[in-house]
Order: sequence, then C-alpha cells, then structure tokens
Amino acid sequence: MSSLLLLLAPLLFHLLLLSTIPSLTEAGSGQWQLLQNSIGITAMHMQLLHHDRVVIFDRTDFGLSNLTLPNGRCRQNPKELVVKTDCTAHALEYDVVSNSFRPLFVHTNVWCSSGSVSPDGRLIQTGGFNDGDRTVRMISPCPDCDWEEVGGGLAERRWYSTNHILPDGRQMIIGGRRTFNYEFYPKADAKNSYSLPFLVQTNDAGTENNLYPFVFLNVDGNMFIFANNRAILLDFDRNKVVRSYPQIPGGDPRSYPSTGSAVLLPLKNLQAKTVEAEVLICGGAPRGSYEQAIKGKFLPALNTCARIKITDPNPEWVMETMPGSRVMNDMVLLPNGNVLIINGAASGTAGWEAGRNPVLNPFLYKTNSPVGSRLELQNPSNIPRMYHSTAVLLRDGRVLVAGSNPHVYYNFTNVLFPTEFRLEAFSPSYLEPGFSNVRPTIVSPPSQAKLKYGQKLKLRFQVTTTLVQNMVTVTMLLPPFNTHSFSMNQRMLVLEASKVTNLGRSAYEVEVNTPPSAILAPPGYYMLFVVHQEIPSNGIWVQLI
Ligand SMILES: *[C@@H]1O[C@H](CO)[C@@H](O)[C@H](O)[C@H]1NC(C)=O
Ligand SMILES: *[C@@H]1O[C@H](CO)[C@@H](O)[C@H](O)[C@H]1NC(C)=O
Repeated sequence: MSSLLLLLAPLLFHLLLLSTIPSLTEAGSGQWQLLQNSIGITAMHMQLLHHDRVVIFDRTDFGLSNLTLPNGRCRQNPKELVVKTDCTAHALEYDVVSNSFRPLFVHTNVWCSSGSVSPDGRLIQTGGFNDGDRTVRMISPCPDCDWEEVGGGLAERRWYSTNHILPDGRQMIIGGRRTFNYEFYPKADAKNSYSLPFLVQTNDAGTENNLYPFVFLNVDGNMFIFANNRAILLDFDRNKVVRSYPQIPGGDPRSYPSTGSAVLLPLKNLQAKTVEAEVLICGGAPRGSYEQAIKGKFLPALNTCARIKITDPNPEWVMETMPGSRVMNDMVLLPNGNVLIINGAASGTAGWEAGRNPVLNPFLYKTNSPVGSRLELQNPSNIPRMYHSTAVLLRDGRVLVAGSNPHVYYNFTNVLFPTEFRLEAFSPSYLEPGFSNVRPTIVSPPSQAKLKYGQKLKLRFQVTTTLVQNMVTVTMLLPPFNTHSFSMNQRMLVLEASKVTNLGRSAYEVEVNTPPSAILAPPGYYMLFVVHQEIPSNGIWVQLI
C-alpha cells in the first residue's frame, strides 16, 4: 500500500498542482486578445509590411464605412456604384507597435483583389471590380504614404485572382472570375495575356469553385497551381503545363466558393541537391454546397486535410482528419513551422449569406508530428469570422485576426452575422510566459539587415536556460497577402544551424547559410526567427537581395 502511494505520489502531486492553476483549460492552447473595438472598415484584405504596419482594406462599394477620411477629404468618383461622394475610408494602415491606425485613400474599387510585396518592400496590389478591375495600386512602407494608382496597369480584368512574386521580382497574376489566363506585372510584352485552359477545365458550371487558386512557386522554378480539386505545374515562361497532379481523394472542391485553404510547408535542407516541397490543403465544401446554400440548405463543410510532396515523381495525397469541419478557414505559417488553421465556418460556403456555424476554435497543425497526431484544438474566440475575414502573422509571433462581412453592404442589425469591425490577436501557446527562459532573443544582426543569397550568416542570440544545441533552427518567412482565406506568397525557409557557439553569459552564436537561390526564396523582406525547442524569438526584418 505504502509503496503504491509512493509510486503514485508524484502523479497525485502533479494533479494537485494542476487543479490549483485556474487557467488549466487554457494552458497550451493559445490566448485571444481584443485589440480594437472598431477599426471602422471590414478587413477583407491584409498585408504586413516591413515597418510593422498592416495595410488593411475592404471595397469601395459597401456603402459608407465607419471610418472618416481625414482633413475633410472626400472621394468623388462618378464611376462608383453605390456612393458617388464618399467621405469615408475603405482602407487603413494598422501600426502593430502602437496598436493604432490611420485611414488611407483608395480611389478605385479594390473588391476581391490580390497583391504581392515587391523586393523593395512596396505592396503592389492588382485588380478589383468595376472601375478598379484593371488597376494596379502601390503603397510604400513610410509613415505618411498613401495609395498610388495606375489605371489600365493590367492586361485583363482581375477579380478573385491570385498573385505570386517571381524570382526576378516581377509578379504573376493568375486567373480571376471569367479570366482564364495569367499575366505579369510589370507587363511582359504588349499583349501580356497567356491562356490557361486548366482554369476552364476546373470551372464548375454555375459555381466556379476555382477562384483564388492556391499558387506556390515550386523549387524547380515552375508554378504549382491548384484549383477546385487538383493541380498542375506550369512552366509560366513557356506557357506549358509540365505535369498534372492527381485529384484529392473524394474529389470535393477546395477553392472559392468551396473555400478551403493551402500552404506550402516550410522548405528545408536548402543546401541539398534536390530540395523537396510539400503542399498542405485543409477544409473546403462538398460539391454542390454553394447551390444548396443559396437555397437555404447549409451542408457540413469538409473535415479533411490533404498533404502532397509536389516534387515527388509519383506524388500521392495523404489524408488527415481535422477536429471538425471547416470552410473559409485561413492557414497561417507560424515561426516554428507549424500551421494555424483559423477563422471560418462548419457549414455552407463562401459568398453572400452562404456560411453557417462559425468555428471559433483554431486548429494547430504540427507539421513534423506523425500522421494522425498532427491536429490539435485551440482555445476559442467569441467573434465569428465568416466570409471576408482575414489572419496574418506578426513579427512578435501573434496572429492578427480581423474582418467578417457576409452582406452586400455593411449591416449591423437583424442579421445572423453583423459586419465585424473588431480587431483581435491570437497568441499561440509558444508565447506563454512559462516559455520565456527557453525563448531566444536575437541580438544581431540588427533588424532591416540586408542578406545576400548563399552567404554564411552569423546570428547572435540569448537564451537564459541551458541551450539544447540540436534544437536550434532559424526560419525566414515571406509575409503574405491574405484575402478570401488564402495567403498569397506565404513562404517559409528553414535555415539549418550548422554550428552553435556558446559565447558565455547566456549568449550564443549560430551560423547558418542564407537561401542559395531566388527560386527557393524570391527577393524581398522576410521575418527571421531563431527557434529553440519550438519556441520562437521575436522576429527581425531582413532584406534578401
Ligand atoms: C457604424 O456606424 C453605423 C451608422 O452610424 C452604426 O449604426 C453602427 O453601430 C456603427 N458600427 C460600429 C461597429 O461602430
Ligand atoms: C441588413 O439586412 C436586413 C435583413 O436582411 C435588411 O432588411 C436590411 O435592409 C439590410 N441593411 C442594409 C444596410 O443592407
């Protein structure tokens, strides 16, 4: 008896200890924080820039927003469809550090548009609706900068398109509603329009299910393009499909309006002769869901993730089950290489009034865990994030969450899901104070350091606890353009630590190789993190040139 008690004592003590901690149910599953009660516009699109400000915008034809333009300024646009004289803003810049925001002035309609950040750090945003469907807009990362617009900057109208940055710093703009082709910005030639029959083949009659395709630059320089339930690899310079991938088992669609989401999983072993690349797609809605939703029947969303090694000669989708069904979910790469699945609903689809049963709990996908034990339920928010909601990672490791407006205009009354102006942050469990002694603090290089390709980089950092040398990695993340549940250009590189030197007094130096090529890591501003035992440091900005 007494020996049994002795055996059980540590367990009992542990239980006793745990039961006295009030936040037991919260531990390890993330925390939510309300940042702003109203930013006055719907965050339909978000992009973090390298001065730690997030450009947020909705559309110009939602009616009057709740954010007034400064200095009595108004927008007089005879081509505008809803309000011809509009003294409210439809775009803003959110300053992460001071938790404040300022209105921006956008002239043409940015509704359901797309974008990429150019290597010099400007957001180049393309297309939209009506008078904005061929417009290119730019905004620089500076304290008082505002949009500059280039009318007719695109060859084709681009509405629900996807953009991707290229190794030479141009961007490619793919598809869009009734636009079965792609183009480049800046323009490649006078015509600048290249047909893409794959977008005709994947366009379900009456529903589409292939808008906002999931696009990733593969490690061989070709473009991986997923739409509906399958993907191709496109040699975009020669306009040639170089391979076709099998469809996801089950065959149900994953792209708009059956909106799931996708990420390119972190690229690692970058010095290897052949680098491998894997794509993960989660959520979506069964075929026919949109037709049913507009008739008032909201089918359960898909509850699966599908993962594929796109560089494999005979690739196959490996299926996993999520803790629940999910549509209109965002997928956010975290600094330690895990993926946060956040926002969205458990039934219906994307589109006006077409989603039901908000899913308030994020799911954490642990990239390197074995199949079957990768997905974990996280703590819930209390704010539904339905159609037109967004999420992006910040440099401090939090995830900024905003938006939600499934209505044709702003609508706060007598609707199931009122237009949402609240701004929140989700803090994954790695931010818990309990990990502060494990968490690295980067000492050098300084933020905004310039890095060349294929160079040796020495990073200095501090850790107060004993360092576990073989559990140090360095990751670099290209901050994405997020809209309609997809994060364009979201790309993470894992730089293996070849040598860690103890400098004494909790200081260490780690040597890594920067990415060897612009195909693996297109030029531009990245957030760089030192990760120790899965706990990331605050990031620093580095410019890969
Ligand atoms: C936005 O403004 C409208 C009209 O003035 C008001 O009814 C509504 O409550 C405001 N919404 C928020 C979230 O501030
Ligand atoms: C908001 O939605 C309700 C219910 O559908 C509708 O009656 C009302 O006209 C809408 N308001 C606006 C501003 O669109």
